[in-house]
Amino acid sequence: MPVLSDRHLLGLEGVPQKDIQLILDTAFTFREILDRPVPKVPTLQGQTVLNFFYESSTRTRMSFELAEKRLSADSINFSKSGSSASKGETLRDTIRTIEAMKIDTVVIRHSAPGSAKLMTGFIDSNIINAGDGAHEHPTQALLDMMTLQEHLNLKSLKGLKVAILGDIKHSRVARSNIHGLKTMGAEVMICGPSTLLPYEAEALGVHISTDINEALEFADVLNILRIQLERQKGGLFPSLREYRKFFGITMKRLNGYKKKFTIMHPGPLNRGVEIDADVADSEHSVILNQVLNGVAVRMAVLVLLTQTHNKGKNRSDG
Ligand code: CP
Repeated sequence: MPVLSDRHLLGLEGVPQKDIQLILDTAFTFREILDRPVPKVPTLQGQTVLNFFYESSTRTRMSFELAEKRLSADSINFSKSGSSASKGETLRDTIRTIEAMKIDTVVIRHSAPGSAKLMTGFIDSNIINAGDGAHEHPTQALLDMMTLQEHLNLKSLKGLKVAILGDIKHSRVARSNIHGLKTMGAEVMICGPSTLLPYEAEALGVHISTDINEALEFADVLNILRIQLERQKGGLFPSLREYRKFFGITMKRLNGYKKKFTIMHPGPLNRGVEIDADVADSEHSVILNQVLNGVAVRMAVLVLLTQTHNKGKNRSDG
């Protein structure tokens, strides 16, 4: 039974290539199950998964829930709104209270970087980071890598040139993609206004540009990030109109190149800002493939972490 190096998935920084490959290979086997007339297997029967969402989500939350159902696990769902958090209950007390009801795995989304790691000190369940502030969003990067392998029919991502565009500084998707893609041998460029590039950019070992034309020259794949409208008040760029003019991905801009780019976006999209509607809906866009592959990747992660945990328990029992 294949296992990972760790029974938690807190980020992709430092995760070995063999673990990422195992998750991707397993996800491809689950992807086939999703196409069956009855897309359900008994793999996680008897397991209970808590979806612990302290922050809004559509894609990640729905696809974890669906992945759990496809694997025959029992799911329970926590949303901050409507919970006793509004009465002042702490994160630690909340999670320890729910774990007392007997759960096996926690999928956590929280606005605080490091919150997923913090959980490992509070409870015994396997922890999956579903996005912690601007830190990491590992399952998003895994589904992005799976989608690239599938769409481009690649056995390996080695040498693939990926440009990540936009608000890199505040993006957990960018951070996880950078770590994952580099581990798998891809070449990465980050591109955006200098105010939206991280201070530690050079230490990340990626190409860096503030010129969209340079990124388009470089890349086979464009991973276009959401402009976080809530950041606009911080004066990090003058206006959405100006952002679109200098960094927006329009058909006119793409048509200036002979190559056909693969277009990715983690969602939610600001159509007409970072990406035009005709680009998002074009035949080169894999945005909805990313969403579908998200279910397969999350199935793979849930199963592999459970196997890894069980193997560790058996070892300590024996
Ligand atoms: N890509 C992503 O994390 O989307 P949600 O915020 O809708 O989960």
